[in-house]
Amino acid sequence: MRTENIVWHDHHVTKSEREKLKAQRPCILWFTGLSGSGKSTIANAVETKLLAMGKHTYLLDGDNIRHGLNRGLGFSDEDRIENIRRIGEVAKLFVDAGTIVLTAFISPFLEDRERVRALVEADEFVEVFIDTPLETCEQRDPKGLYKKARAGEIPNFTGIDSPYEAPEAPEVHVRNDNVPIDDAAQQVIDYLQTKGYLHA
Ligand code: ADX
Repeated sequence: MRTENIVWHDHHVTKSEREKLKAQRPCILWFTGLSGSGKSTIANAVETKLLAMGKHTYLLDGDNIRHGLNRGLGFSDEDRIENIRRIGEVAKLFVDAGTIVLTAFISPFLEDRERVRALVEADEFVEVFIDTPLETCEQRDPKGLYKKARAGEIPNFTGIDSPYEAPEAPEVHVRNDNVPIDDAAQQVIDYLQTKGYLHA
């Protein structure tokens, strides 16, 4: 086994010390939704608001991560599972670093998202469902991908010929149809404030 002879080292500086220094409760803001639903846009708006409040954040975005860490992974079920598994592990490290980490991935499978939830403590995983009807995403089609998928040029396209399993009880449910970006982002901030993630 590749993990043989590997011993876990405990760090001297702890998560709670980092948390105190940063005056925030670290967590993963896990954005999930269809391609074109507005995940990245809203996650960026949330991060901007958090920065203005002096919070320490980082945004992991599907398209960007697939250019680096996850280059080489495609869109088969197997590759998507591995994509989300790796992001989950990276996000967990950010939480340990005391950061509020925002992730924007379609992450279509319920089981994969629950696996990430199980990696961290109970209140460290905040699922943010960007709920935009497929028709709206398809109309927006910011990257022209739905058009290609409908033409049969992109196999396994989420919502077309690959499933999207909507969250059953997301911590934040953003219905992103005709809603200003700022309102959607504020909904996430309000949740964090109410639940005490943003203490001074
Ligand atoms: S995930 O399903 O593995 O979570 P991820 O969020 O990383 O997907 O990447 C989704 C982005 O890749 C989409 O926004 C779109 O730009 C692009 N993409 C390319 N091929 C596909 C496909 N078959 N299905 C969905 N998105 C695709």
